Amino acid sequence: MASRGKWSSHVGFILAAAGSAVGLGNIWRFPYLAGKNGGALFVLIYIACVIVLGLPVMLAELSLGRATGKNAVGAFRAIRPGTKWHWIGYLNVVTAVMVLSFYSVIAGWTLGYFVKTLGGTFKSTGKDDVVAVFSRFIASPGLQLLLLAIFIFLTVSIVSKGVSAGLEKFSKVMMPALFAILILLMVYSLTLPGAERGLAFYLKPDFSEINGRVFLEAMGQAFFSLSLGMGAMLTYGSYLSKKEKLVASAAWVAVIDTSVALLAGFIIFPALFSQNMAPDQGPGLVFAILPVIFGKIPGGTLFGAFFFVMLALAALTSTISLLEIPVSFLIDEKKLTRRRAAWLMGGAALLFGIPSSLSGGSVKFFSRLPAFHIDFLSLWDKVWGNISVSVGSLLIALFVVHVWKTDKALAEISAEGAGFRLARIWILAIKYVCPLLILVVLVSQFI
Ligand code: PHE
Repeated sequence: MASRGKWSSHVGFILAAAGSAVGLGNIWRFPYLAGKNGGALFVLIYIACVIVLGLPVMLAELSLGRATGKNAVGAFRAIRPGTKWHWIGYLNVVTAVMVLSFYSVIAGWTLGYFVKTLGGTFKSTGKDDVVAVFSRFIASPGLQLLLLAIFIFLTVSIVSKGVSAGLEKFSKVMMPALFAILILLMVYSLTLPGAERGLAFYLKPDFSEINGRVFLEAMGQAFFSLSLGMGAMLTYGSYLSKKEKLVASAAWVAVIDTSVALLAGFIIFPALFSQNMAPDQGPGLVFAILPVIFGKIPGGTLFGAFFFVMLALAALTSTISLLEIPVSFLIDEKKLTRRRAAWLMGGAALLFGIPSSLSGGSVKFFSRLPAFHIDFLSLWDKVWGNISVSVGSLLIALFVVHVWKTDKALAEISAEGAGFRLARIWILAIKYVCPLLILVVLVSQFI
């Protein structure tokens, strides 16, 4: 344990964990999924999932990580050696690498858009030009590959130096700056003519739109956004001291993460409707509307560039935590050096990221996969970002309840006199609500 890094303080851990949670999931993924799934209805189900499923699973992951002080595979091994339970950890590790692969493509877009915005591309362009710029951008193979490689390189160079060093301090500055910029954008967006129609879409649920897909995407998004179901919180929990109160930390992370997502919606939807743009455009949504706003705001060039830098940095604190999952596994279990593990897994993510980066029109096959009728990036996002994180969360709930046992988890959660008033409710949630609900939503997709 002594050789494992440790977070330096209570606030330090919350910021690092929030740094993992807050990222493209909040600002890119949440709005596009909400737009695609009927707006307010999705938002409602999403918030319910965060409370009913996300928080209990987060506590399970944090307590398992801290109790064992181990990585995503080692934690299961430590509790049930000689069994196959640690395969949950392998699933976590594979999911993390796959999510990192397509996540870094979108992160690369934020870098590209930083340069474009700063270069004045969006100065006084109308919405049609903005959409055209985006289509051309994602269809440029060389540029897409370059941006992907740059982002993975950035992530690897930080992770190869060790985790807690600098991450907490960095998040301490980045998180408030991101918050401030989002609030400013929200105020602007809400004052646009026609904003009320966007607000109605975002806040007034239309229950006739309800279907199985809305549930899966809202549930998957809750896990994805809170960095659950792939061992990220487990790994970060293993760097956490016994003095920290897990319940308070988990609650803070969920509140920060959800507020950022909700804020993003208050920017995107009023702006979209004021421009008469469709909310269901898919993964390109944010990149199609934000530049339109930056083209209108006074000082929009600098402001927009600053926004994309902050978004890239928020993505970076998430990719760092993603890469940390396989890296801490390889260090602990396979005795690799941190450097070697980081380069190896970064390389794997780069390789698997190639099809995603070429799926915006550069390579026909990847841009519309024959059997699935969607592009490779969307497929990867669905398989790993929705289904696999849900399965991973289900498995961790089952493991904690039936193998590790809830009394051990509770002992860890209330270690050193930390109270847990809602212990009974947590047991109910992790024992019955989480497994049943996740199972029902997953199974309903296949029938
Ligand atoms: N939660 C991050 C986001 O919303 C993505 C992520 C998932 C990071 C899982 C780490 C682990 O952007």
